[in-house]
Amino acid sequence: MEPGVMAAQHIRQVLLFFAFLGGSSVLSETWSYSVAEEMETGSSIANIIKDMGVGDLAERGARVIFDDYQPYLRLELETGNLVLNKKLDREELCGTSEPCILHFQVLLENPFQFLQGELLVEDINDHPPTFLEKLIFLNISEGATPGTSFQMDNAQDLDVGMNGVQNYTISPTTYFYLKLKDGGKGRKYPELVLDEPLDREKEPSVSLILTAMDGGSLPRTATAPIQVVVVDVNDNAPEFERMLYEIQVPENSPMDSLVIKVSATDLDMGMNGEISYSFSHVSRDVRKTFKIHPISGEVHLKSFLNFEVTQSYTINVQAVDGGGLSGKSVIIVQVIDVNDNRPEIVFTSLMSPIPENSSSEMVVAVFRVRDQDAGDNGRMLCSIQDNLPFLLKPTFKNFYTLVTENPLDRESKAEYNITITVTDTGTPKLSTQHTLTVQVSDVNDNAPTFTQTSYTLFVQENNSPALHIGAISATDSDSGSNAHITYSLLPTHDPQLALPLLISINADNGQLFALRALDYEALQTFEFRVGVTDQGSPTLNSQALVRVQVLDTNDNAPFVLYPLQNASAPCTEMLPRAAESGYLVTKVVAVDRDSGQNAWLSFQLLKATEPGLFSVWAHNGEVRTSRLLSERDAPKHRLLLMVKDNGDPPRSVSVTLHVLLVDGFSQPYLPLPEVAHEPAQDEDVVALYLVIALTSVSSLFLLSVLLFVGARMCKRAREAMGGCSVPEGHFPGHLMDFSGTGTLSQSYQYEVCLTGVSDTKDFWFLKSVSPNNEVMPCVEENSTSVNDFGYD
Ligand SMILES: *[C@@H]1O[C@H](CO)[C@@H](O)[C@H](O)[C@H]1NC(C)=O
Ligand SMILES: *[C@@H]1O[C@H](CO)[C@@H](O)[C@H](O)[C@H]1NC(C)=O
Ligand SMILES: *[C@@H]1O[C@H](CO)[C@@H](O)[C@H](O)[C@H]1NC(C)=O
Ligand SMILES: *[C@@H]1O[C@H](CO)[C@@H](O)[C@H](O)[C@H]1NC(C)=O
Ligand SMILES: *[C@@H]1O[C@H](CO)[C@@H](O)[C@H](O)[C@H]1NC(C)=O
Repeated sequence: MEPGVMAAQHIRQVLLFFAFLGGSSVLSETWSYSVAEEMETGSSIANIIKDMGVGDLAERGARVIFDDYQPYLRLELETGNLVLNKKLDREELCGTSEPCILHFQVLLENPFQFLQGELLVEDINDHPPTFLEKLIFLNISEGATPGTSFQMDNAQDLDVGMNGVQNYTISPTTYFYLKLKDGGKGRKYPELVLDEPLDREKEPSVSLILTAMDGGSLPRTATAPIQVVVVDVNDNAPEFERMLYEIQVPENSPMDSLVIKVSATDLDMGMNGEISYSFSHVSRDVRKTFKIHPISGEVHLKSFLNFEVTQSYTINVQAVDGGGLSGKSVIIVQVIDVNDNRPEIVFTSLMSPIPENSSSEMVVAVFRVRDQDAGDNGRMLCSIQDNLPFLLKPTFKNFYTLVTENPLDRESKAEYNITITVTDTGTPKLSTQHTLTVQVSDVNDNAPTFTQTSYTLFVQENNSPALHIGAISATDSDSGSNAHITYSLLPTHDPQLALPLLISINADNGQLFALRALDYEALQTFEFRVGVTDQGSPTLNSQALVRVQVLDTNDNAPFVLYPLQNASAPCTEMLPRAAESGYLVTKVVAVDRDSGQNAWLSFQLLKATEPGLFSVWAHNGEVRTSRLLSERDAPKHRLLLMVKDNGDPPRSVSVTLHVLLVDGFSQPYLPLPEVAHEPAQDEDVVALYLVIALTSVSSLFLLSVLLFVGARMCKRAREAMGGCSVPEGHFPGHLMDFSGTGTLSQSYQYEVCLTGVSDTKDFWFLKSVSPNNEVMPCVEENSTSVNDFGYD
C-alpha cells in the first residue's frame, strides 16, 4: 500500500467536543483529520480555511503547533492547506498504541483564535510480522500423548490492528496441528498440538515452519523454522540380532579364546540405548566356563572345555539398557571332540611270577583299555611286541587277556618285559604304552650236573689227617632251592673199602678230605661215587665217579731179605779157596716196599776186610771174587754193603756179610772168632750147618717158584693185555727195580706183571716156605717176613 495513494483521501471528521485548555473555558470545536502513515511529504491533508472558516491567515499569523512541537504539518497560509511536512510513521509516533492521534492547535492572532485539531495517523500494513527467534527449538518427549499442546512464542508486528499478526499456520505435518490461542486484546498465540504420537526411533526430529500472517489487505508473513527434537523415552528394549546362537567349539580351545560375539541393538538413545550384556539364569557350570564382556558382548572361555564332561552348554544371555529394559537370547555351545585323551590301560589282574611249566593259554594279565574321546578318537587298537611267547586276546568290550602262547623256560629267559601299546584311531593318533614285567618262576626241571663225569685226585701217602685233597663241583641251572645242591658220598659196593673212614665230603661245596693218612703200600688207588642233590620238589640228583690215586713217597728203606741182618748169629758165606776170579760168593737180596724210583735199589760195597778181593754188582747185589784166592788170604772176611733206593731223599740200609774161606766144602766149619765167644756156641754150630743147608735149598726153591709164577703171570697178562712188556728203557743202567719183590734179575720180569693184579694166593705158598726164626738161627726174632710186604 503506497501511502501516496491514500494521501488523496481527505477524511474530514468534525468532532465537536469540549475541551478546557489552560485557563480558558472556551469550549471549542476540535477538528479531526486523518492521514495514512507514510503519506508523501507535501500531501494536503485539510484546508483550514474551508473547514474552520478562518481567513487572512497570513495577516493573522496563523500557525500550527503540535503538542510535541514537531512540525508534522505545514500550513500553507495562502491556501489554508495543511500539508504534510514529512512522512509520518505511525509505528514511530505511537508504537503499538491505537489509535495514533497527534494533537495540534492552530493559533490565530488578531483576533486570537485557538483551534483544536487532531491528526489521526492511520496504520498501513507497512511492517511484516517478525519472529524473535530465527530457529525455534522444541524438545518434546516421544512419550507425549496426543493432544498435548506446546505454546509457541508469537510473532511481533509493528503494525497494529488488522495489520498486526492475525493468523499462524504451520507447514503440513502429521504430528502436529496448530491452535491459536487468544491472548486477549486481539492477540493470538500459536500452540502446537500433538496430533499423533512421536517416535524418536522413527523420526528423531520433526522440522516445521511456522508462518505468522498479519491481517493487512495484502497480508504480510513471517516464517520461523521449528525444530522439534523428539526426546527419547526408554520405550525400546534391547533386541538381540538372533534369538538363538549356535556355535561349535573344539574342546581344546585355549583359555580366553573367543567363543562368539553376541550383539543386541536398542533403538533408544543415550542411557536408554546403552546396552550391557550379561548371563541370565545360567548354571554354575556355565559361569565357571564362560564369561561375557558386558559392553562388547564377546563370550570368552574362562576355563578349558572337556568334551568328555560336557558336550554342550546352553547359555542364556541378556542385554539390559540403561533404563532397565532387557532383551534375551540363547547361545548353544556344542563342544567338538578333539583327540585329546590318550587311551588308558587299567589292569584288573596280573599274574607274576608265572611258573615256567605253565600250560599254553595260561592267563597272565587281564586289563581293560579305554579312551574318553568319542568316535574315531575313542576307537583303540591294542598290541604287544613280536617275538614274545605271549598272545593278546580280546575278550569283550575293550577287555583283553594276555596269555602264554609258547612254552616258557626260566633258564633261558627269566623275565619278560611286555609292552602293551594302545593306539586310538583319531587324528592325530594318540597312544599309551605300559610295560609289564612278567617273571618266570622256577620249576625244578634241571638236575644238578657235575662239571666232569669223573674226577681223579692224587694224594701223597702219609698225608696228615683231614687233608683237603680236592673238590668236585656241580651246577644246577634252576634257581633258589631248586638250585641249592648238596654233595654226598654214595655207599660203595666194595666191602674192602671202608670209605666213610677214609674220605669225607663237605656237603655244601664238594670239597673232599682224606680222614686218615693213606698208605700207598696198602692202598694205591680206590674209587667211589659222589652224588649231588638239589632241594627242589621232587629233588633231582646226579652222580660222578671219583678216583683217588695215592702217590708213593720214599717212606720205606730197602729191606734186606738175604742175608738176614739182625739175627743173633750172622750168616756166613763159604768160599772155597779154589774159587776162580769172578766166583759168585753170594747175592744180597733186598726189597723196597715203595714203588717206582723209590724202589729202585743199588748196591755198594762200603767196607771190606780185604779190599779188592770182593766186588759187588751195583744193580743186582751179586758179590763176586775179583781175583784168585791165595794161601795168604785170611780165612775170615767181613764185608759191609749198603743197599740204597733212588728216592728223594734216598733211604739206605747196610748189610754185613761174613765170608769164610774154606779149602773145600769137606772142611769142617770153623766158627768165626766173633761167634766163638757167644755163650751157646755148641748148639749154634749145629744150627749153622742146618741153616746153610736150608738156605741153599730155600734159595733154589725160591728161584724155581718165582720162575714158575713169573711164567704163569706173564702168560695170563699176555692173554689180558696182549703181552707182557717190560719197559726196559725206563730203568737206569745201574739200578734195578726191586719194589715189593726179591732182588731178582731183570730178566725175570717179575714185578711188572704181578703188581696189583696177581692172585695173592700164589704167595701163600711162598709164605709157607719163608725162613722161620724158630727153625733158622740166623733169622731175626720178630720177623714179619714176606707176609708184611703187602701181599694180603
Ligand atoms: C532440548 O534438550 C536439549 C538436551 O536435552 C537441551 O540442550 C536444550 O536446551 C533443550 N532445548 C529446549 C528449548 O528446551
Ligand atoms: C487463518 O488462516 C487459515 C489458512 O489460511 C484459515 O483457514 C483460517 O480461517 C484463518 N483464521 C482466521 C482466524 O482468520
Ligand atoms: C608244574 O610244576 C609243579 C612242580 O613241579 C607241579 O606241581 C605242577 O603240576 C606243574 N604244572 C604243570 C602244568 O605241569
Ligand atoms: C625289563 O625292564 C627292566 C626295567 O627297565 C630292566 O631292568 C630289565 O633288564 C628288563 N628286562 C628285560 C628282560 O629286558
Ligand atoms: C730185625 O731187622 C728188621 C729190619 O731190618 C728190624 O725192623 C727189626 O727190628 C730187627 N729185629 C731185631 C730183634 O733186631
